[in-house]
Amino acid sequence: MIVLDQVSKTYAKGAIKAVDGLSLHVKRGELFGFIGPNGAGKTTTIKMLTGILAPDSGRVQINGHDMAQDPLSCKRSFCFVPDTPNVYDRLTGREYLDFVSDMYELDDKTRQQAVEKYVAMFGLEDVLQDQIRSYSHGMRQKLSLTGALLPNPPLWIMDEPLVGLDPRSQHLLKQEMRAHCERGNTIFFSTHVLDMAERLCDRIAIIDRGRIVAAGTLEELQSGRDETLENLFLALTDREALA
Ligand SMILES: Nc1ncnc2c1ncn2[C@@H]1O[C@H](COP(=O)(O)OP(=O)(O)OP(=O)(O)O)[C@@H](O)[C@H]1O
Ligand SMILES: [Mg+2]
Repeated sequence: MIVLDQVSKTYAKGAIKAVDGLSLHVKRGELFGFIGPNGAGKTTTIKMLTGILAPDSGRVQINGHDMAQDPLSCKRSFCFVPDTPNVYDRLTGREYLDFVSDMYELDDKTRQQAVEKYVAMFGLEDVLQDQIRSYSHGMRQKLSLTGALLPNPPLWIMDEPLVGLDPRSQHLLKQEMRAHCERGNTIFFSTHVLDMAERLCDRIAIIDRGRIVAAGTLEELQSGRDETLENLFLALTDREALA
């Protein structure tokens, strides 16, 4: 479903190497977690995966389409939850969701059902008529998630989707993510919540300084040692020990 082949990206005219020859293959039906320290290159990787940034070198393929050659076909098969909820301040929540539904040309029944489902799930009923500028951070995140998930494409790409959500919403979103993959769909998401990654994911990749330092199922990462994901993460990303 996702192929990243030797993808690299630098910033500041080459001075900062954010992603360095990264290759990953995410299969259809997988819930794939992407973890790593701050500044490791997760968001940069996700921006290349979603076509927001072009890689300096390497290839990105989604659902059999090449991002550089055929970005629209790629973008039709996924939705994207960014790391910060960029929703338009002067629209009401309802107007924002109508705008997203129009962009995706959702029919009336589909949009109504999807909006009802996520608005009820996140408890947004009472604020939909209010301008987004009056929303708290968590409310913006819930609206951003609702907008992203409305079209329900086969692939969800999510950059730290749990940030800012209250525990009930986190719980419901995790259930929703698992259910999406149980139906044969695919999710690629980054997180700093390691026990979530440990419990929820089919496979996990750990990125550090722009490179994959480990990838596989939890059992594969453990390779016979009965370690938590947290301990594996600490060992694999320990700058002093690795220096
Ligand atoms: N627009 C930019 N200009 C210059 N450097 C950048 C830019 N965006 C990211 N970087 C640098 O690229 C590296 C990777 O950043 P990135 O945002 O991909 O990390 P991340 O793994 O998502 O981190 P976090 O866990 O904090 O979200 C860091 O060194 C960061 O400072
Ligand atoms: Mg990030």
